[in-house]
Order: sequence, then structure tokens, then C-alpha cells
Amino acid sequence: MLEKDRYLTFALTKGRLADKTLALFEQVGIECREMEDKNSRKLIFVNEELGLKFFLAKAPDVPTYVEYGVADIGVTGKDTIMEEGRRVFEVLDLKLGKCRMCVCGPAEAKQLLEHHEQIRVASKYPKIARDYFYNEKYQTVDIIKLNGSVELGPIVGLSDVIVDIVETGGTLKENGLMVLEEICPLSARMIVNQVSMRMENARIRQLVGDLRKVIDEKE
Ligand code: PRP
Repeated sequence: MLEKDRYLTFALTKGRLADKTLALFEQVGIECREMEDKNSRKLIFVNEELGLKFFLAKAPDVPTYVEYGVADIGVTGKDTIMEEGRRVFEVLDLKLGKCRMCVCGPAEAKQLLEHHEQIRVASKYPKIARDYFYNEKYQTVDIIKLNGSVELGPIVGLSDVIVDIVETGGTLKENGLMVLEEICPLSARMIVNQVSMRMENARIRQLVGDLRKVIDEKE
């Protein structure tokens, strides 16, 4: 290792987001050749020269690894960060995977929202849904947790609306649903462990500064 006392460890979100994150990292001189083999099932990768370690985790586990300090730094979606509610510092918007968290449903459901009816809300994100309805809209609702294909909720009559991610809007359209209210914009964020932020401050600030420059240039 080169003048580094310890590895700086990254938890990345397995799949497309990890690929995009690494492509961005490469632009600031951080690379991990080992990870380029797409057929590999390995989960941990090391760049000895730069003193960096990367591991690939499922999105909801990324903030967990970071809160416990197993990873110094994590990259995952704002949706996951909000839903998990872990004690971590969010330090940078990578502006990757931009989409929106929305309340969606059939057009008729708009009235139910306007009249603050006690509706049923299906979501993969029960915490975000609860925060939005209870703390922002002061509307009492029943939240039903689903694990995917949430658009089914209003179609089969499980719920009146859903709280879900909308990217192109294609899934909604194909299922006769629409955006009724927008909760917040989403994108990938970099999070940092609270102790690492103090102990590795110089390395982390340098990295965040370098990445910010590249991201701003793209805007
Ligand atoms: C996400 C989200 C929507 C869809 C939105 O689902 O939950 O269903 O993508 O994208 P669009 O607006 O471009 O159509 P994902 O593909 O992650 O699968 P899931 O339904 O199993 O969560």
C-alpha cells in the first residue's frame, strides 16, 4: 500500500448502479480492474495500490454496512437511504439513476387524496409512505408493504394508491395508472460513516471534491 495506513472501504449497490458508480470513479483515477470481469461472482475487490476495498451489496444493506463502519463509504439510491433511516452522513449527489418518488394510482384516486380519505397505500417503501402521509400531509392512511410489482396494488384492488419510483412512467402507463403527487426527486447518493468522516477526513474530502468536479462538469 502506498502511504495509506488502512483501506478505505466502499459498499456499492450490486448491479447497474455499481457499474455506473465505478465508471464515475474511474474519471477521478479510482479503478478496480478486478471488478471488470462481469462473469465473476466475487463480492469483495481490492486495489492494493490505492488502498481501496470495494464490496457489492444489496441496496437496503448498503446503509447498514456504512452505519456499522464495516464500510467507510456507501453508494446507493436516495430512496433506500430514506427508507432505511440509518445514522450516516449523506455527502454527495452522484446524479446517477435520476427518478422520482411518487404517489400513483388511477385518475379516480385523485379525489380520495384531495379529501384526505383514509385510503390504502401499497408500497415497497412503507417508511417513506408513512412519513409523507402522516408528517407532510397529515392524512391517516393504511400502509401495506409489498416487495415489488407494486403497480398491481390498485389494479387488483389491494390498495387505492401506491407510493413508488417513477422513472420513464412506462410501467404506470401500461397499467392504466398515473402520477397523482410527487414526493421527492431521487438519485444515487454517497454516504459516509460518522466515525470515518472524522478519522479519514482528508481522503474522503479529497474524493468528494474530485467527484463533485466531474459531476458538475457533466451538468
Ligand atoms: C421500478 C419501480 C417501477 C418501475 C418504474 O420497479 O418500482 O415499477 O421501476 O420505472 P418506469 O417509470 O421507467 O416504468 P423495478 O423494475 O425496480 O421492479 P419492482 O417492481 O420489482 O420493484
